[in-house]
Amino acid sequence: MKNEEFAAAHEKFSILNSQLSIIICTFAAEIQDYIDLNVMLRIAVQSKGRLFEDTMNLLAEADIKVSASKRTLLVQSSNFPLEVLYLRDDDIPQSVASGVADIGVVGENEFVEKGEDADIISRLGFSRCRLSLAIPKEVDYQGVGWFQGKKIATSYPNILRDYLSKNGIQAEIHVITGSVEISPGIGLADAIFDIVSSGSTLVSNNLREVEVVMQSEALLIGYKQLSEDKRQILEQMLFRFKAVKDAEDKKYVRMNAPKARLQDIISVLPGLKSPTIIPLADDEWCSVHTVLDQKQFWEIIGRLKEMGAQGILVTPIEKMIL
Ligand code: PRP
Ligand code: ZN
Repeated sequence: MKNEEFAAAHEKFSILNSQLSIIICTFAAEIQDYIDLNVMLRIAVQSKGRLFEDTMNLLAEADIKVSASKRTLLVQSSNFPLEVLYLRDDDIPQSVASGVADIGVVGENEFVEKGEDADIISRLGFSRCRLSLAIPKEVDYQGVGWFQGKKIATSYPNILRDYLSKNGIQAEIHVITGSVEISPGIGLADAIFDIVSSGSTLVSNNLREVEVVMQSEALLIGYKQLSEDKRQILEQMLFRFKAVKDAEDKKYVRMNAPKARLQDIISVLPGLKSPTIIPLADDEWCSVHTVLDQKQFWEIIGRLKEMGAQGILVTPIEKMIL
């Protein structure tokens, strides 16, 4: 190959090469877009009932917008890669175990009852209730032996069977899906095994809670083989949930403090690191800002007043990144 021919060939190759890299770049950008736009984490949420409200509130507090008004089966968030699949609570464990939904919010009672294989990602702390045995209130109850040979109505046969066998009791389990509490009154069963929250359902049906079998709260459960993309979205969501949870029951407190008592005042404040101290126009006073736990709030405020703190302002905190 002559020098000129080589130069021409080289130039052609370079042009081709640069065109190729443009094509690759465009392609890569498209892949990037594909990842950002099309991967959505799908969360199964109870379509109505006690878990629905609490879950939607949690999403809203985490600034994840989901329109609750158009409650079709599947709704996408407008500002976060999440789509909500509304289901009956009985169907949530299986939908997550099979991967139809990536994650789900479900009552612990329902999750344990169904025995489906999914990870517990976190305990959400809301929708607390218990699963209890209850009997007509006039019965003279001496202990769990009373249930021997009795007929018990429930929607949770597996949990009940397990409990009875651990206690060596043989009883007839009558499975019904709703209004369990009316069964003793209409002669369908001697006792019930059901969710108790405030206890008012039992009271209005003349029933008395005699054995608490398990405590329950809302769980966030997840599919065992989540892809890496989805795991990353989940991490972002959990980060937000944690910020919301950390801010719960915390108050932002501002007060004016006499400088002479400042060290005493600081010593009773827990704060995150240390309180913020801001000078005031009056040289003998300063402003102290801190975060207080709701539980210790009144006790600490009382002590601060004794130490001469004045003009105490208390405001709620929306989120807290620790
Ligand atoms: C549960 C349970 C009781 C009620 C207990 O029903 O079956 O009926 O809650 O709550 P309380 O102690 O506060 O009265 P739920 O409302 O979940 O509906 P369901 O019976 O249709 O499942
Ligand atoms: Zn009920």
